[in-house]
Amino acid sequence: MKATAKAHANIALIKYWGKREAAENLPAVGSISLTLKELFTTTAVRFDPGADRDTLVLNGTPADSAQTLRISRFLDLVRKRTGLDSRAAVKSENNFPTGAGLASSASSFAALALAATQAAGINLTLQELSILARQGSGSAARSVFGGFVEMKTAERSEDAFAFQIAEPDYWDLRLLVAVTSAEPKKTGSTEGMNRTAATSPYYRQWVETGPADLQEMREAIRNRDFEKLGELAEYSCLKMHGLALSARPGILYWNGATVEVLQAVREWRRSGIPVYFTIDAGPQVKAICPAGYAENLHKKLSGLPGVQQVRIASPGPAAHLVENQ
Ligand code: PMV
Repeated sequence: MKATAKAHANIALIKYWGKREAAENLPAVGSISLTLKELFTTTAVRFDPGADRDTLVLNGTPADSAQTLRISRFLDLVRKRTGLDSRAAVKSENNFPTGAGLASSASSFAALALAATQAAGINLTLQELSILARQGSGSAARSVFGGFVEMKTAERSEDAFAFQIAEPDYWDLRLLVAVTSAEPKKTGSTEGMNRTAATSPYYRQWVETGPADLQEMREAIRNRDFEKLGELAEYSCLKMHGLALSARPGILYWNGATVEVLQAVREWRRSGIPVYFTIDAGPQVKAICPAGYAENLHKKLSGLPGVQQVRIASPGPAAHLVENQ
């Protein structure tokens, strides 16, 4: 009745933004990501036949009712699947800022999917876990797997899952996370996506041009073509943020320091350093480079005004169970 699982954050190189179907949480576009070893969530789930409600402790503090409700809805999926009726105590810890555009929902729901199903006594395949995790958060479908991962768009829930494109050790890249604010974001990704789909005049083009971006990124990964991967990652990121900005009212996730980091990354690139950026639904900038450049870039990023903290991450493993906790 009890299990603990660990899942790693992932950062999309080709972005997911927009839902085809809200109730099932089906993404409108496919995406490609890299799972990160150094950023992770550890989640313990204990089903308790005596408890009258689900509880959530997040980073050592009891969660608010909105967060607990989201977890409770997700646990309902597991209860429905297994016939289990008990409420659960969930304890979750992130080793990085939560809800600030650092993919915490991805690692959280991937870890919760694995811990909750194991605690409920069922063993799902990685594909089944990915489908389940997706119903908590679209990007969580990708955190079930390690290395380079693609998420499909599909019309039916049972077809909308992620799969691995390449193992973590396939390509020795580094992703540096420059934290410019640890505040939770004001517009959550679901709200942002729904508003964008309903109001942006560019939304249709975003959905139509997605498959070509995915195809190019698969090729860049297959050929270990770093320039191509970086150029595409920046393109997909700016296209997604341009799209969000064109919603009504426009959604702006960046702060001043975010823009300073973007300018600096392009300046360093002009001076010959192979480095590109990407940004999720928050103000943090992620810089991507071959492993050998990471230490130097860590120093450079740490010295920029407004950068509070820089973390270096490398390709990481699939979600897994943690023993003896
Ligand atoms: O998984 P969600 O619903 O939090 O959406 C994630 C959206 C982005 O992080 C901005 C892009 C992505 O593909 O991860």
